[in-house]
Amino acid sequence: MAAGFFISKTVAIVAIVLGVGAVATIIALSVVYAQEKNKTTSDVGTTAGPGTTTTASTPAPNNPWNRWRLPATLKPESYEVTLQPFLTPDANNMYIFKGNSSVVFVCEQATDLILIHSNKLNYSMQGSFHATLQAEGGGSAPAISRTWLETSTQYLVVQLSAPLQQGQRYRLFSSFTGELADDLAGFYRSEYTESGIQHVVATTQMQAADARKAFPCFDEPAMKATFKVTMIHPSEYKAISNMPANATRQVDIDGQSWNVTEFDTTPRMSTYLLAFIVSNFSYVEDNSSNKQIRIWGRPKAIDDEGQGEYALSVTGRILTFFEGHYNTTYPLPKSDQVGLPDFNAGAMENWGLVTYRENSLLFHPEYSSIANKERVVTVIAHELAHQWFGNLVTLRWWNDLWLNEGFASYVEYLGADSAEQSWNIKDLMVLNEVHDVMATDALASSHPLSFREEEINTPAQISEVFDSIAYSKGASVLRMLSTFLTEEIFKQGLQSYLHTFSYNNTVYTDLWVHLQEAVQKNNVQLPGTISSIMDRWTLQMGFPVVTVNTADGTISQKHFLLDPNSTVDRPSDFNYTWIVPITWMTGNNQGNETYWLTKVSDTNSNFTLSTTWLLLNINVTGYFRVNYNQENWDRLLSQLNAGHTVIPVINRAQIIDDAFNLARAKYVDVTLALNTTLFLSQETEYMPWQAALTNLKYFQRMFDRSEVFGDMSKYIKKQVTPLFRHYQNITGNWQNTSSGDLMTQYVEANAVSTACSYGVSECQNLAMNYFNEWNTTNNNPVPPILRSAIYCSMVATGGEEVWDFLWQKFQEAPVVSEADKLRSALACSREPWILNRYLQYTLDPTKIRRQDATSTINSVASNVVGQPLVWDFIRGNWRTLFSQYGGGSFSFSNLISGVTQRFSSEFELQQLEQFKKDNEDIGFGSGTRALEQALERTRANINWVKENQAAVMQWFKEHSS
Ligand SMILES: *[C@@H]1O[C@H](CO)[C@@H](O)[C@H](O)[C@H]1NC(C)=O
Ligand SMILES: *[C@@H]1O[C@H](CO)[C@@H](O)[C@H](O)[C@H]1NC(C)=O
Ligand SMILES: *[C@@H]1O[C@H](CO)[C@@H](O)[C@H](O)[C@H]1NC(C)=O
Ligand SMILES: *[C@@H]1O[C@H](CO)[C@@H](O)[C@H](O)[C@H]1NC(C)=O
Ligand SMILES: [Zn+2]
Repeated sequence: MAAGFFISKTVAIVAIVLGVGAVATIIALSVVYAQEKNKTTSDVGTTAGPGTTTTASTPAPNNPWNRWRLPATLKPESYEVTLQPFLTPDANNMYIFKGNSSVVFVCEQATDLILIHSNKLNYSMQGSFHATLQAEGGGSAPAISRTWLETSTQYLVVQLSAPLQQGQRYRLFSSFTGELADDLAGFYRSEYTESGIQHVVATTQMQAADARKAFPCFDEPAMKATFKVTMIHPSEYKAISNMPANATRQVDIDGQSWNVTEFDTTPRMSTYLLAFIVSNFSYVEDNSSNKQIRIWGRPKAIDDEGQGEYALSVTGRILTFFEGHYNTTYPLPKSDQVGLPDFNAGAMENWGLVTYRENSLLFHPEYSSIANKERVVTVIAHELAHQWFGNLVTLRWWNDLWLNEGFASYVEYLGADSAEQSWNIKDLMVLNEVHDVMATDALASSHPLSFREEEINTPAQISEVFDSIAYSKGASVLRMLSTFLTEEIFKQGLQSYLHTFSYNNTVYTDLWVHLQEAVQKNNVQLPGTISSIMDRWTLQMGFPVVTVNTADGTISQKHFLLDPNSTVDRPSDFNYTWIVPITWMTGNNQGNETYWLTKVSDTNSNFTLSTTWLLLNINVTGYFRVNYNQENWDRLLSQLNAGHTVIPVINRAQIIDDAFNLARAKYVDVTLALNTTLFLSQETEYMPWQAALTNLKYFQRMFDRSEVFGDMSKYIKKQVTPLFRHYQNITGNWQNTSSGDLMTQYVEANAVSTACSYGVSECQNLAMNYFNEWNTTNNNPVPPILRSAIYCSMVATGGEEVWDFLWQKFQEAPVVSEADKLRSALACSREPWILNRYLQYTLDPTKIRRQDATSTINSVASNVVGQPLVWDFIRGNWRTLFSQYGGGSFSFSNLISGVTQRFSSEFELQQLEQFKKDNEDIGFGSGTRALEQALERTRANINWVKENQAAVMQWFKEHSS
């Protein structure tokens, strides 16, 4: 099987490509899913130890061991697990670990079969069998008649000569070895180099189904048990696990001295939340409260550069916030958080021992920007939120994952807000989650939040449920629920749910039951029960567009599809209608009661307005889009132009995002969408600008090689110049950018990146002055938040000398986030020969690390000058790329979707079809689906351009002077 492992969240620092029009350095949280490297070897077995009998029995669908789910016959209660990782390779040049474990389980229904998960483990035989069995508390256990490994479904199977007795406890013992591979799953190794010395870290990633790769276990989230973990490790390395170390002693094994660290027994918990790490990491700690908090990382990062301090300073505050929010004390005696180099995941909420990718935990005071800080505080808040919701109370099966991840993705904003109270970070949910996921959820190929339990069985199916629908739509829908209930009542239900199910498992409707109790206790009036309202949002995909006509007060809803020609073949019990909580205001009335739209269409006299405007979905707390009659749109646009601050800032972003999406779906004219950007010449806030830049990016891709772009550039330059000047004044010519709050710094970055890329000369001069200062003093004078934008401008307007200087800085960069900013800026050159040389570098792993090759090529492709070069590069090198990287970490799908983003002509469509034909014999590997999507998108783009080009061109011409 291809063991999947998920990446909780990953940051996409959106790089700005100069001359291409831009979006500033912002944080876009997105859900990524990474496949384990395709390992074809099935077992560690062949090289290590005795007794590697891996017998597959004849597949017969009705055998319990051919089913993916465990039978209900046995329930584990406690494990004792001892593991010994070797941090140097063995004689076969392989990294391995040794281990043994015993599990005590109770027999719930008599059975003569023990099925326990085991994957890629290689057993030392106990006599003729893989394991031994004893009865607990005296008595005798039935004899084992046969044992084998069922590799396809990942079981160790123990066949008994007589049944186990109901109610009796048994202990199963086994001893094994496994590979400590660099495959990021189960018990694995991570490597890094510091001061020229290579180090190995043994660490874990159990979620979703890889605890079974570390030791045999009943590896399902509802099979909670206690765990007593013991690690045997080299004496100079530290071992940590979910619980505090209880005792450490030294022992001699085969003439070598090892330390044995025993950890306290855990509370009842799920296997996927276990963690253990052996490393030479350093930590900083805070013992000021009753629980120990430690932040771990590479010694240089922690001891010399203070990169753990920020995380340490917010963790205590966030834990205290959640204790109050959940009305439940932190369930464990300590909290460890570890930043792992090249950890391919975002972060993982292991109970008491959370693991992170370095850039999501560590913060470098000199190199990191406030965007990096936002990343750190939100990811910490997300993982700590899980310590209760997810870890203390756990969903029974992966089909309900959306509740676990959606909930954490919602309350991470509350937790982060408690640590950084001046940031208004909760507002960012609208851009980062709601608007972002609506783009996906508006496709006919979307899916509902909720799956039935029997739909999710295999590890691959489990991995697939970790997508942006689960995270961002889950968060959006829970935010809507919490808003219409009020946060206070939502908290009451939540607290009662947590108190009831601590150390236990639930299904998502258990939360509805407890929220319903809170609703009744507080006499909240709703148009239905929690579950009757929420079913509409969880059991059917998509969301409505609510259309209101202020001439007659009619209001109606319709399933919103971005592509009006797409057909929905997924049936819905609710016919794609929703129960919609609608908040609203008018030009002369600010606060109004929520109106509930419970049918397809309705009338409401409050919405009949003869002179003033109506605005629905205040602060976008509802998960839907809004359309109006033309007259009301006109009134809203007049208000924006006459005094935009009358409309709440989040709704200024909403009006733009809704209008552009409604235009894509042909509900409104494209010129209406463009008209929503007119007021930006007076706008100084981040969210409306960000919404506009995101939406204009599509226009830029479609037109930056056509005559439309001349006037489009002039228009954007005209709109952004006042913004640039405004912040230039406020910051004393950009000297004091770091003093602004979060969103101020973000909009400053927007101002600079947009101004520089659309040719505002003061901006380009600013970049060149920074360059000259840097070049002469060798001190980098650029404020971290402006670096992506400024570096890009330097490279775009400078020549070879600037490029080589920044290339040098890239190679010396001490922090990954700094290297990433430089790497994408190097793609901003306007010189084809420099860009071609850079493309060649991506094939040389000593210049660009393999894992960064695709994103570097894509940075070049997003540059209008680089795009045809990349297309030639890919067509010319496809065979090389494919044979060198095929099956590896190279992402062919990102590559294909990146290079084809601008494709919008018949000629490009032909080229793409030809490319497909020419390479059919070698294939497209992981890019196969992306190629089909690219063909489809190109056809859609051709149509869009055909239908809109004349109107768009006319509009920009009229508005550019
Ligand atoms: C190893 O064990 C010795 C003896 O108990 C102890 O002094 C030392 O601190 C241990 N080392 C580690 C890294 O735990
Ligand atoms: C850890 O230490 C305490 C006190 O010495 C002891 O009571 C406890 O049983 C020990 N073991 C575990 C696994 O918690
Ligand atoms: C839970 O709420 C009760 C009542 O308000 C309060 O006394 C208690 O301290 C709270 N517990 C926690 C852990 O916040
Ligand atoms: C877990 O919940 C189930 C069902 O609500 C209940 O029957 C069981 O007793 C609980 N178990 C524990 C250990 O609390
Ligand atoms: Zn999560």
